[in-house]
Amino acid sequence: MIKMNIEIKKADDDDRIGLRAILKYSFDTLSSLDTLELDLYIDGQTRPCQWFVARSSQGHVIGCINASTRSNEGYINSLSVIEGFRGHGIGSMLVQEACEFLKTDGCNSVFLYVRPTNEGAQVFYEKLGFTNCGLTKSQTLEDVVMLRKMI
Ligand SMILES: CC(C)(COP(=O)(O)OP(=O)(O)OC[C@H]1O[C@@H](n2cnc3c(N)ncnc32)[C@H](O)[C@@H]1OP(=O)(O)O)[C@@H](O)C(=O)NCCC(=O)NCCS
Repeated sequence: MIKMNIEIKKADDDDRIGLRAILKYSFDTLSSLDTLELDLYIDGQTRPCQWFVARSSQGHVIGCINASTRSNEGYINSLSVIEGFRGHGIGSMLVQEACEFLKTDGCNSVFLYVRPTNEGAQVFYEKLGFTNCGLTKSQTLEDVVMLRKMI
């Protein structure tokens, strides 16, 4: 495995273009794009949230994750690592950073939702200690798998 020099940090204005590109690449959905149309730190439901990015040694955004809170519960979503950089622990570092942020923000559990067909992501999250809570409905009434972890 190639040793990579990766920085995990809160997104700032310099990351805007890279973050928008990675979201379009990974989740080519209107909601993801709307998120950034509104504001980098405000999600589609105008809930305060925080983006984190992984930056390569050349300064390129190669991964991202979004963390938000609702009633003292933490939520993470839009986790993505660019294909050529997967398998080097970057996704794990992004999840860890988001969970630490949520814990500091007063949360003691973190939830996330994954499409049932995305079995790889479910394996990934289970390896990080998340419990698979089974199927539920998303806000758009889509079937989604809910995973949860105490932090
Ligand atoms: C899921 C994703 C973020 C993982 O990122 P990554 O940087 O490759 O993950 P890591 O290198 O930290 O992997 C940690 C562990 O999970 C495992 N893992 C990661 N992706 C996996 C997959 N698709 N299937 C099975 N296991 C996987 C790794 O093998 C590793 O296991 P190990 O600790 O035993 O070596 C990345 O594959 C991705 O961006 N996928 C597309 C977007 C997506 O599905 N996002 C999540 C849903 S919102």
